[in-house]
Amino acid sequence: MDPDMRKTCLITGASRGIGLAIARRLDRHGYRLALTAQSKESWQRLRGELASFTAKDHVPIVCDVAEEQQIAAMFAQTDATLGRLDALVFNAGIHHQGPATEIQAADWDRLFAIDVRGAMLCCREAAGRMAAHGGSIVVIGSIAGERPIAKRACYCAAKAAEHAYAQSVALEWAPQGIRVNIVAPGPIDTDFLTEALQALKLSSEEVLRLVPLGRIGTVEDVAAAVHYLLSDEASFVTGAVLRIDGGRIWS
Ligand SMILES: NC(=O)c1ccc[n+]([C@@H]2O[C@H](COP(=O)([O-])OP(=O)(O)OC[C@H]3O[C@@H](n4cnc5c(N)ncnc54)[C@H](OP(=O)(O)O)[C@@H]3O)[C@@H](O)[C@H]2O)c1
Repeated sequence: MDPDMRKTCLITGASRGIGLAIARRLDRHGYRLALTAQSKESWQRLRGELASFTAKDHVPIVCDVAEEQQIAAMFAQTDATLGRLDALVFNAGIHHQGPATEIQAADWDRLFAIDVRGAMLCCREAAGRMAAHGGSIVVIGSIAGERPIAKRACYCAAKAAEHAYAQSVALEWAPQGIRVNIVAPGPIDTDFLTEALQALKLSSEEVLRLVPLGRIGTVEDVAAAVHYLLSDEASFVTGAVLRIDGGRIWS
């Protein structure tokens, strides 16, 4: 591919799980990537993963998206290395389970700082850079943002806020040619799901029975949806919620 034709994309939380699969897919399709991990240790792991990528010029960055200064530094590094930013995938996220009567304010604040405030800060920075030429943003939400689940009140509330924020800015930034869409996964096979099921004392067989298509989703299922929404094939799509959930939301 002509190097000047390559699109650029920043993906948060690309050290493992869904974010890493999105990075692998965009790499195969010629993107030049800035990829983040939240700690030095996971950054090292991400660097190791990059050895098997097609392109060798991707940029791994340490950034805790709960920290505004680290987000500013991440965008500055992205500007310096990628130049023009065409796309952002805000994927970083954590989970929280437990009875609503036992939610601690600190846990609530941490989840909202990452999933909601982090999304807002990253989208704001990206949109400022895309205003002159347009761009595409995908926020990884969850069906939990649309379908309440008992004992996940903090997570459901944060994902609902993330969806509402993304849809609001989709309207606001459409005149500048910036599309903003949400991918809402159901149960996807990652560390995140394993940890959440352990905390809820649920087996994967019990979850399987709740998915009409009869399987747990793969990270590649989600990556394909993100790739579509970032592409020109989706040039008339903004403010959408694309559920990758095997029909779970209706069951
Ligand atoms: N898996 C599912 O079933 C499922 C379902 C619905 C929605 N989702 C959403 O999908 C997204 C990715 O989930 P996943 O399943 O891939 O989770 P995962 O395997 O636990 O990976 C989470 C990723 O987010 C990063 N991260 C966590 N906290 C961060 C922070 N403070 N700053 C920067 N990065 C941070 C992690 O980085 P480190 O490696 O550095 O910790 C990691 O790269 C999340 O937004 C989640 O809510 C997942």
